[in-house]
Amino acid sequence: MGKHVLEVVRYVFSPHLVVALAYRFGYFIHDQVLWRATIHIKNRPRIHPTASIRCAHNIYVGNNSHINHLCCVWASKNAKIILGDNLLMGPGVGLFASNHGILAGQPMTFQEWKEASIVIGDDVWLGAHSVVTAGTHIANGVIVAAGAVVTRSITQEGAIVGGIPAKIIGKRPEAPERDSYVPDTRRIAAFTHEHHPDVVGPIAVGGEEIADGHAVLH
Ligand SMILES: CC(C)(COP(=O)(O)OP(=O)(O)OC[C@H]1O[C@@H](n2cnc3c(N)ncnc32)[C@H](O)[C@@H]1OP(=O)(O)O)[C@@H](O)C(=O)NCCC(=O)NCCS
Repeated sequence: MGKHVLEVVRYVFSPHLVVALAYRFGYFIHDQVLWRATIHIKNRPRIHPTASIRCAHNIYVGNNSHINHLCCVWASKNAKIILGDNLLMGPGVGLFASNHGILAGQPMTFQEWKEASIVIGDDVWLGAHSVVTAGTHIANGVIVAAGAVVTRSITQEGAIVGGIPAKIIGKRPEAPERDSYVPDTRRIAAFTHEHHPDVVGPIAVGGEEIADGHAVLH
């Protein structure tokens, strides 16, 4: 304990503290502030404060989409990342729109980037710690299983893909028949109230008018 107190006393007024604080502040501006000025956002995405966003001028986030804890969404100088509506991301997901050049005989760090855009459809779920590599497109409704690495485009809507490299391992089951589907009006109204506060009139689900969002909440 005494040793740690001494350490604090010794370094608290040192120039190293100033340098460390300046770095932390600089990275905070770079990682947390700068991208907000340039990212293209449709409406009310949920972006966790620990997410890392790079080249935000080339990132397009759809309506009600979620970038979760510790996700990396790294577009590139000349390659976009386009995210659809209602996208779900587990924690630790990585989307990288560029690769280092990998020719042998010269350090990779000095080689040209290989850039290619990533496009993710609507209603896609990227499972925890999955990775999506440059140039891949993922169709609407796809589930990428936890830990998968998507290296080729997934064109089949509603497919479940998993593994490294990601391959189709299943298909989303159909929703129950329309007749047996009873909408949870309270939940839908609460969701609408939270995400679309501008909606004040009756809410329609599957063509049926169910309730006024605010009325059901109270
Ligand atoms: C892909 C997923 C949705 C499938 O769930 P499920 O339909 O309940 O699947 P099951 O557990 O019945 O497994 C079905 C098959 O897929 C395989 N599978 C499941 N998850 C897998 C994964 N992450 N990677 C590879 N294969 C997987 C199973 O081994 C099984 O194979 P088998 O039929 O040969 O035995 C689920 O496993 C998953 O990865 N969820 C992501 C969880 C997550 O990231 N949560 C964060 C919160 S957003």
